[in-house]
Amino acid sequence: MTRVLTVNPTVPEADLLTAAAAVIRSGGLVAFPTETVYGLGADATNAAAIERIYAAKNRPASDPIIVHIAALDHLAGVALNLPDLALELARTFWPGPLTLVLQRHPNIPATVSAGRDTVAVRMPSHPVAAGLIAVSERPIAAPSANTFSRPSATTAAHVLEDLGGRIDLILDGGSASIGLESTVLDLTGDPVVLRPGVVTVEQLRVLIPEVQVRSQYLALDETAEAPGQLIKHYSPHAEMRLFDGDPAAVLQRMQSEARERSARGERVGIMTIESERSHFSDFPAEVISLEAEAAGMGAQLFAALREFDQRGVQVILARLPAAGGLSTAIRDRLIRAAEGRIIRVE
Ligand code: TXA
Ligand code: MG
Repeated sequence: MTRVLTVNPTVPEADLLTAAAAVIRSGGLVAFPTETVYGLGADATNAAAIERIYAAKNRPASDPIIVHIAALDHLAGVALNLPDLALELARTFWPGPLTLVLQRHPNIPATVSAGRDTVAVRMPSHPVAAGLIAVSERPIAAPSANTFSRPSATTAAHVLEDLGGRIDLILDGGSASIGLESTVLDLTGDPVVLRPGVVTVEQLRVLIPEVQVRSQYLALDETAEAPGQLIKHYSPHAEMRLFDGDPAAVLQRMQSEARERSARGERVGIMTIESERSHFSDFPAEVISLEAEAAGMGAQLFAALREFDQRGVQVILARLPAAGGLSTAIRDRLIRAAEGRIIRVE
């Protein structure tokens, strides 16, 4: 049985945090909202609890987990040999959606990091996340609270859909406001962005002009070399097809492909933006329109992918947005949801 407790997202009730912290301290699993997406938390110092995270998510043992802390003082208890740059970045972006990969402290069992001698650390800003970590008096290891390779959960209902019956407790604090995951920045060598996210590469360049971005997408069997770079990730059950190119030509191509597929009897989904919705008004398709502006689109993206599955579509047609700023993260999630299927339209 998975208990669900509704918590005030801005001023979480002390008794609820105490109850959730008791579950964490006894080695249980608690899903909780962060400002990015829901996390599936366990005591990061308890190897048996970490094993339960991998089992609940069906997560491969090769994919390491982020450790969440609630104060800068906690950093030295989870990571060793902190570079000055880490502290500078932490002071600039924490609490918030930046994850730093550092040398792992022996307080954190190797299983958190899939056997690596590094650890990914982030200080979330969401009051429920921060409160839970503080009251637990433990660093909390938490991947996104979804079944492995599914879209991240941005509401408690998404968590229940994937993990109901497999975890102890869900703190329901409403929708995660940002809706996209943190940026993962590796500082164990030359600084490199491993996952584009909410803190943009442009923002990072201000402090780290030489920052690199690892951009290639790898096939499933290459996971051990590059955790988190799986091409198949954030996937709806439907096949996702992305269209890239001249906007008017893309629109036409999506219209003709939707018509052809639906004529063949396929259930078609179209993901578009509000200003283009009218182009699909009498279409034989399930249409979901998102805000055109990146912050709004990012907040709605994962919920939309799950909604298409709820509506039983077999294929989702969508435009690939141009890179830059937060759109770089949106592009990354879409490309992985589509397992790399991009159709270039001239
Ligand atoms: O916004 C977020 O980051 C959310 C919330 C819950 O904090 N968490 C999240 O966790 O997205 P997850 O497990 O879904 O993604 C963590 C990413 C993965 O790509 C993983 O491979 C990478 O971080 N990662 C974790 N530890 C790492 C390490 N030691 N070295 C390299 N990559 C690491
Ligand atoms: Mg995830």
